[in-house]
Amino acid sequence: MAALRLVSSYYGCNFAPAMDEIILHTSYTLADIDKAVVSFWEKLHTYRIFAFSGELGAGKTTFIHHLCDHLKVEDAVSSPTFALINEYHFYKHGKDNLLYHLDWYRLKDTAEAIHAGMEDCMLQAAKGTAICFVEWPEKAPELLPKPYLWVSIETTDETRRTMTVKLVR
Ligand SMILES: Nc1ncnc2c1ncn2[C@@H]1O[C@H](COP(=O)(O)OP(=O)(O)O)[C@@H](O)[C@H]1O
Ligand SMILES: [Mg+2]
Repeated sequence: MAALRLVSSYYGCNFAPAMDEIILHTSYTLADIDKAVVSFWEKLHTYRIFAFSGELGAGKTTFIHHLCDHLKVEDAVSSPTFALINEYHFYKHGKDNLLYHLDWYRLKDTAEAIHAGMEDCMLQAAKGTAICFVEWPEKAPELLPKPYLWVSIETTDETRRTMTVKLVR
């Protein structure tokens, strides 16, 4: 209660702010996914950790592929389900940017994720020397350093997906 009052007075209001703030809510089809990608990156490019959550076939890999195309990623973008970690590079203003595309689907828990080298990717992202796109983050959510973005993708119908992005801090 004391903490709640402290937070409320800090914000100069009577309400404690929500811990998870929705910062983007949108829907798109494959026909306009590139427009969605451009808005997404325009708004969120300063963040380093993107946790893509959604059932199998929701469109996590598809959105990441289009995002990588937009970033002009030089490497062949594939699903990292078998490699677990895909490393990509893209260049902006002459600077080399390191991007990890991770898929935690086949991991059992946090211990397995650490064993597979995921913690190192998270540390680099926390330091600001890499960006991480994580599929199936619910397998080891404790590994995600805050602040991170929780990007939830839901199937609206066969062709349309709804995306909600929350800032977790
Ligand atoms: N609006 C949409 N956005 C993304 N994928 C879509 C959309 N509409 C249909 N799809 C189809 O849904 C499937 C999504 O698969 P994928 O991206 O591999 O899912 P996930 O990585 O979440 O398991 C693809 O076959 C894609 O063509
Ligand atoms: Mg996938």
